[in-house]
Amino acid sequence: MTVKERISQLAAQLTGSTAVMTQTSAFQSVPLAPPDAILNLNTLYKADTYPKKINVGVGAYRDEDGKPWVLPVVKKAECAIVEDASLDHEYLPIDGLRTFTDASAKLILGKNSPAVLENRFGGIQTISGSGAVRLGADFLNRWRKAPVYISNPTWGNHHDIFRDAGLDVHTYPYWNPEVRGLALKGMLDTIKGAPKGSIFVLHPCAHNPTGVDPTPDEWKLIAEAIRAGAHFPFFDCAYQGFASGDLDKDAAAVRYFVEEGFELLVAQSYSKNIGLYGERTGCLTIVTKSADLVPNVRSQMCKLQRASISNPPAFGARIVSMILNDEQLFAEWTQQLKIMANRIIHMRTVLFALLTELGTPGTWNHIVDQIGMFTFTGLNAAQVKVLRDTYHIYLTDNGRISMAGLNTHNIRTFAEAVDFVVRNV
Ligand SMILES: Cc1ncc(COP(=O)(O)O)c(C=O)c1O
Repeated sequence: MTVKERISQLAAQLTGSTAVMTQTSAFQSVPLAPPDAILNLNTLYKADTYPKKINVGVGAYRDEDGKPWVLPVVKKAECAIVEDASLDHEYLPIDGLRTFTDASAKLILGKNSPAVLENRFGGIQTISGSGAVRLGADFLNRWRKAPVYISNPTWGNHHDIFRDAGLDVHTYPYWNPEVRGLALKGMLDTIKGAPKGSIFVLHPCAHNPTGVDPTPDEWKLIAEAIRAGAHFPFFDCAYQGFASGDLDKDAAAVRYFVEEGFELLVAQSYSKNIGLYGERTGCLTIVTKSADLVPNVRSQMCKLQRASISNPPAFGARIVSMILNDEQLFAEWTQQLKIMANRIIHMRTVLFALLTELGTPGTWNHIVDQIGMFTFTGLNAAQVKVLRDTYHIYLTDNGRISMAGLNTHNIRTFAEAVDFVVRNV
């Protein structure tokens, strides 16, 4: 090849590659993902300039004035951490702060749980409840792959988390619109009909989004069906203590399964019950048949954790550890937890009374019967749209409302708007 030919060959290659660079991008085929339904609602709410707007979309506690509440016990713990000269910013171990994970496991299982007494439990600190669900899903996908069943409906993220972890996702009926309560028969039939050894994701209390929990007798039937199918229970506990105001009562379903001899996973979140939303503090607790299995499971979870977040953040875990391990702080926390739970329970009573006073068509008992942060109102998407567009009231399309968004200043406006859409839309 002559020099001239070589030059023109290089020039052709160059123009060719320039053309490639200008015509296509590595990201050309990436479509715009739809916005997250709940977080998008929050954005719309923030952009709304109407002074009396109401946000019952986001699942975060608000006080009587509609403001986020930093629990006084959290402030106390934060001050103590800041003043503690012995603390530094070194990495935590891969499985997190052991004083936190041990206390967290005991909080959900109970100090006298057979699993605790026999030392066949363990905890891994995670990026809040979402991270705990994801780590559990990744672990099951790698070491106990099976179809996973989530409730219909459920917290929207369950679908994505279990799918992205590589599991085959199915649903079991949970909500019966006719009785505005639990679809127990459909749930049991699905558990019985699922392939042997399937994974069942259960909300132990304050089911999101329905606010409907099985009774203790219904839990017995659920446990029996799960045992009969040799299925694996995976509890997602985002609201311990927040539902009833009683930490033990809200943990009863998990404790019952442990007493019945099940091995299980529990994802725990401290977003709602200690109000550490943005600090991303959670734990994945495991219960095994025997103590010798715990180190193996823990080591494999650590391997997965190392490859995803390396090690978890320290601040939130230090706060929770301090509260759970100090008798005085723990007592203060349980009082403050009751303040939140009771305010929400009170809002249920007031809303029910207002709709009754207005004579709003339909039955509304489910508002007081449901538990926890959410009420599944039964309002349809068209009614929700009018509430948003005309009344500046923000809730998810499935009619779910966060009771924490209501307070004595806005609840009548809310009830009157609901009354209007029920009658006219
Ligand atoms: C059922 C359920 N699981 C898990 C979570 C996770 O919450 P976080 O990651 O904020 O702790 C939530 C929060 O809304 C939830 O409702």
